[in-house]
Amino acid sequence: MNAHPSKVAKDLSAPNDLEAWWLPFTANRAFKQKPRMVARAKGMYYYTPDGREVIDGAAGLWCCNAGHNRDEITAAIQAQAAELDYSPAFQFGHAGGFALASRIAQLAPGDLDHVFFCNSGSEAVDTALKIALAYWNVQGQGSRTRLIGRERGYHGVGFGGISVGGIVKNRQFFGTLLAGVDHLPHTYNRAEQAFSRGEPEWGAHLADELERIVALHDASTIAAVIVEPMAGSTGVLPPPKGYLQRLRQICDKYGILLIFDEVISGFGRLGTTFAAERYGVVPDMITFAKGVNSGTVPMGGVLVRKSIHDAFMKGPDHVIELFHGYTYSGHPLACAAGLAAQDIYRDEKLFERAKTLEPVWADAIHGLKGLPNVLDIRTIGLVGAIDLASRPDAVGARAYEAMDRGFQEEGLMIRVTGDTIALSPPLIVTEDQIGEIADKLARIIRKVA
Ligand SMILES: Cc1ncc(COP(=O)(O)O)c(C=O)c1O
Repeated sequence: MNAHPSKVAKDLSAPNDLEAWWLPFTANRAFKQKPRMVARAKGMYYYTPDGREVIDGAAGLWCCNAGHNRDEITAAIQAQAAELDYSPAFQFGHAGGFALASRIAQLAPGDLDHVFFCNSGSEAVDTALKIALAYWNVQGQGSRTRLIGRERGYHGVGFGGISVGGIVKNRQFFGTLLAGVDHLPHTYNRAEQAFSRGEPEWGAHLADELERIVALHDASTIAAVIVEPMAGSTGVLPPPKGYLQRLRQICDKYGILLIFDEVISGFGRLGTTFAAERYGVVPDMITFAKGVNSGTVPMGGVLVRKSIHDAFMKGPDHVIELFHGYTYSGHPLACAAGLAAQDIYRDEKLFERAKTLEPVWADAIHGLKGLPNVLDIRTIGLVGAIDLASRPDAVGARAYEAMDRGFQEEGLMIRVTGDTIALSPPLIVTEDQIGEIADKLARIIRKVA
């Protein structure tokens, strides 16, 4: 009897079968008609299967901060795989996990001195939210259950993350989400802030909206506030001057935990190890992922203040203190890659490099002002965004075309969200390569006019 056709093993060596992989956050049908394939990468460049060079204007997905295929990271992953492929983190440990946690704790501001590992930014966010809720429980303040996010915030795609997040499309198809969540207003106002470099002058007062939320719900019901210091995925919104400091003050006034989601801003993107350092604000938790090992092996984590960690360390010694974790928490390969990436960051002073290059980057990207359809440009650290005017009745089409033509015709990889182009090159980018990115962008923006 013949096997059911769907059960016949397919020839997986077939190079052109693009059917089975349902790509995430992708226009799948358009992609499969005209694929954008990469085959290898080195330093600042990707290479297509036919050998075309594509400069990386996005550090992959905001993550390859040390540049691509760094020999030291490759060697560390290979050596680790040959030595200890996997080790359970529930009730067992391995040296690499402790070494990387200590290393990250040393880099963190204030008394953020404990690290809980997971495998992505989304997991980091859900972990931080759960730690906040559990913390108030162990503190005997179990009524503190509300979580406050912000409009336009991106905190990954778990149910916790989309609940506190504020990106409409990421929320509207997924039911009722977590109960007991409220949102601060976003901080963008084009009329007040257009073409700002770094932190805009206008908008610190928007942090005071937390006072209104406290007045509505009462502080005794609020567990935590979570914000990205710089909102990245929504289209790069740098925080207004003084905004984060004000948020910290209001959280302190009411005993509310403050979580910085530094999945993008962590590990040098804004010229400091964490954005917390750039702003002189110590949050109660920091979520990280992406740059921790330069995007090479899935990894995320939460940095937690000593007082929060210590609050859990009571009861009988043999009892688990936090009922949370992942099979791959602190995976040996991710940790080995993390230690190697951190060595590169330190030895090549890449975070300082991002700071030094910030004005060069800002000049280059702001130089695109005046090109057709450019409504606003924002830069901060080694991040940039260009808002393009939407085509009538086709929101997102112009930026999509820019992304596609950038890859296919100009050899530039960028990210787009709506009609905004987002830029975040690896921190190894040179001044010449910044010029190359800006020149290519200028040509692309003209092409999509
Ligand atoms: C601020 C922030 N939080 C969380 C995430 C989710 O990370 P992941 O895609 O690794 O789950 C991202 C991803 O871009 C992010 O920018």
